[in-house]
Amino acid sequence: MSMATSPQTRLLHNHPTNNLFNSNNNNTSFIRITTTTPSFKPISIKCSATAQTHTPSPPITTAQDRVFNFAAGPATLPENVLLRAQSELYNWRGSGMSVMEMSHRGKEFLSIIQKAESDLRTLLDIPSEYSVLFLQGGATTQFAAIPLNLCTAEDTVDYVVTGSWGDKAFKEAQKFCKPKMIWSGKSEKYTKIPSFHELEQNPDAKFLHICANETIHGVEFKDYPTPKNRSGILVADMSSNFCSKPVDVSRFGIIYAGAQKNVGPSGVTIVIIRKDLIGNAQGMTPVMLDYKIHDENNSLYNTPPCYGIYTCGLVFEDLLEQGGLKEVEKKNKKKGEILYNAIDESNGFYKCPVEKSVRSLMNVPFTLKKSELEAEFIKEAAKEKMVQLKGHRSVGGMRASIYNAMPLAGVENLVAFMKKFQARHA
Ligand SMILES: Cc1ncc(COP(=O)(O)O)c(C=O)c1O
Repeated sequence: MSMATSPQTRLLHNHPTNNLFNSNNNNTSFIRITTTTPSFKPISIKCSATAQTHTPSPPITTAQDRVFNFAAGPATLPENVLLRAQSELYNWRGSGMSVMEMSHRGKEFLSIIQKAESDLRTLLDIPSEYSVLFLQGGATTQFAAIPLNLCTAEDTVDYVVTGSWGDKAFKEAQKFCKPKMIWSGKSEKYTKIPSFHELEQNPDAKFLHICANETIHGVEFKDYPTPKNRSGILVADMSSNFCSKPVDVSRFGIIYAGAQKNVGPSGVTIVIIRKDLIGNAQGMTPVMLDYKIHDENNSLYNTPPCYGIYTCGLVFEDLLEQGGLKEVEKKNKKKGEILYNAIDESNGFYKCPVEKSVRSLMNVPFTLKKSELEAEFIKEAAKEKMVQLKGHRSVGGMRASIYNAMPLAGVENLVAFMKKFQARHA
């Protein structure tokens, strides 16, 4: 194993406490390293350690210690991003500070947020007439912010509800305007996307809202409806498929996403908004929900989630290094195909309830014909280092979230396990 390239070496090299040998305080101890060759004299190295008043750091770990994490979010992050963040944690690029310690108005953090925005613009080819905002409060806060910013209390808006998240967005909007649910997949357990011509859109609606990927049900829009409302505004919650494939941003008035699935840790919410939609918030809109305030202040009106934005920036760099979203989409399609094929070719042992043409490439729900085996499936998978496969409590069964950062090997391992499990229980 090359010491220069092993993750373990890098972890050790960057470990802030590996510089114990220089300290001269009184809490010293000695490590005696005895060589096996008799021609060398035994040597003693003097070490020091301060008395532990805090929980000791966990042991330094290697890639082999990590699991394949199929969680729906917060979710797995690219390993190289984690290692990079770790190597920069203590002293960001020679600044003498961690990103966590920086002033959000200092030149260091400004360079971080500006680079993150610029890389995201490149990734999604975001036109210049759109603003990019890094906000807080999760996508859930946007369920309120969107009607507050785009409507008066008397305005009507259209919601297409293809799952639980779209339903939550619709219900929140009821507090701030007059939303109409123009389609719901609830009676079919949210397994479908409507054909666009059957949508009865209200010409007076201020916007049409969709959830581009329903995380719980695994239903994904493969194309987007054209809004037939007078303002022509389409709004999409892309929390769980953000940056998983190229998107024509110009078709949307607003795209919003919580970062914690595909692009970073929880705590950052990204809003991409056409600039002409900014500046019309209802009078009662709290300052933190007013897009104008955040836009005028370049997402720095108050203290932003600095470390989260920094991590998103590392993910954007990584996605660009992979060749951009077309390449990322190819990888996601391959992973999805392998997993869905395994389900479909199991002679009914596994089943995915979602209509084939709209199956999500990010969240794959499936059930076992013998549902009494589900708990065992999840437990045994965990023993093989595949975790978080339990379906959402509202739908049961299993769900494998295979976001950008899930390596192909993770999906291949899961499929191999599914086949073994089936052979044992068929
Ligand atoms: C599609 C979708 N929308 C909205 C949300 C809510 O996001 P948050 O928890 O960031 O408010 C989630 C969370 O899982 C989601 O998957």
